[in-house]
Amino acid sequence: MSVKPSDVKATLSFSDGTPAVEFPLYKGTIGPDVIDIRSLYGKTGKFTYDPGFMSTAACNSSITYIDGDKGELLYRGYPIEQLAVNCDFLETCYLLLNGELPNAAEKDKFVDTVTHHTMVNEQMQYFFRGFRRDAHPMAVLVASVGALSAFYHDSLDINDPHHREVSAIRLIAKLPTLVAMAYKYSVGQPFVYPRNDLSYSANFMRMMFAVPAEDYKTNDVMVRAMDRIFILHADHEQNASTSTVRLSGSSGANPFACIAAGIACLWGPAHGGANEAALSMLEEINRNGGVAKIGEFVKQVKDKNSGVKLMGFGHRVYKNYDPRAKLMRETTHEVLNALGLHDDPLFKLAMALEKVALEDEYFVTRKLYPNVDFYSGIVQRAIGIPTALFTGIFALARTVGWIAQWNEMISDPEQKIGRPRQLFIGSQSRSVPPMNARK
Ligand code: CMC
Repeated sequence: MSVKPSDVKATLSFSDGTPAVEFPLYKGTIGPDVIDIRSLYGKTGKFTYDPGFMSTAACNSSITYIDGDKGELLYRGYPIEQLAVNCDFLETCYLLLNGELPNAAEKDKFVDTVTHHTMVNEQMQYFFRGFRRDAHPMAVLVASVGALSAFYHDSLDINDPHHREVSAIRLIAKLPTLVAMAYKYSVGQPFVYPRNDLSYSANFMRMMFAVPAEDYKTNDVMVRAMDRIFILHADHEQNASTSTVRLSGSSGANPFACIAAGIACLWGPAHGGANEAALSMLEEINRNGGVAKIGEFVKQVKDKNSGVKLMGFGHRVYKNYDPRAKLMRETTHEVLNALGLHDDPLFKLAMALEKVALEDEYFVTRKLYPNVDFYSGIVQRAIGIPTALFTGIFALARTVGWIAQWNEMISDPEQKIGRPRQLFIGSQSRSVPPMNARK
């Protein structure tokens, strides 16, 4: 770790006479200081207890920074608002992977390399055919991304920086192909091979929507919107799926297996599955009366016994408007206008619901604001992405963040296998009773 301990020390004292112990304190470049408690168990025989990592930094990182109170998101120091407007997704990938934005020559080379890795081994087609047509795309993605490790043996040595780079490129390049294949398979259409004359996002849209029977022309507004969705989802520091990738990678597992683990974690409705859940929620309110029923729905959300949540609202880190949500709302507007859907009932409903929630004491006191998923479903639906594929799109975009974080971890000389401790509250040691003595 390049960070040095500050002059300040943290002292932990006990009320039972155990002598106080001192710990070093580190200052990051921005953000809260951290107390280095690695020697705690050795010094005291005690662990800390922090389920959900509410106050625990599990690693040091120089990739992404979130200021949840300000609603600020930086990739390698650059605000997301500037990247979303001035850069495309592959430039953002280069930045996340390498730490700096590419110059023109570096960008050309990177784009060329990614473009020339977009095909997947032809054998993957047969692998896909084993799935039911109605399989959830995330089930298909977990399996097919994990299966990549069975196809690309030549880039699996995690201690070789060149292998790691090749695997990173392969994953970024092949995820759009696999996501599009998962979609094509689900609708019974032939797989569409990638085309090297198209941009990353245009190529993805073509693989999704082209059919062999006719020409397919990409729409610039939709391609730009897709690219922005990718940029906004590219990384988000130590969230659940990224931490899953790091934890999987800490054992020395190969990158394809680690990213498959990240995809599995992302699938959950509290994480990447929230975009699908948010759109289903809006559709249901719309079916049951629309804007007029917002009050009733919000009442249900506030009732802790109802089990109903306002999906697309709230975040562990953001206690202010998620900056990605603002950009996503802007993109939703652009896409709906371009498609002549100014009166889209779900968009109107979402804006009305947002307004009610932002003025409601329940949401205000808990600092619950829209997150990236609140609007992303509406824009993806308008583009023609089926709801079940939303989280797959998130996985596609987040792959670069996962792989950048995985690479950072492997390159860190202080890296150790991740092994949390526990507060054990079960039975103490006891003897196995014979069968006839058991209750
Ligand atoms: N609707 C209603 N109440 C909520 C919501 C919500 N969406 N989110 C949080 N709360 C309440 C929660 O019940 C709790 O209330 P109380 O203090 O009375 O018990 C309080 O707000 C704090 O919530 P928490 O669950 O302790 O917060 P957390 O940091 O553990 O959870 C979260 C964060 C994102 C899982 C949660 O806000 C949530 O489930 N939101 C809906 C799902 C969602 O939109 N997820 C996408 C996250 S952004 C994309 C991503 O990174 O994957």
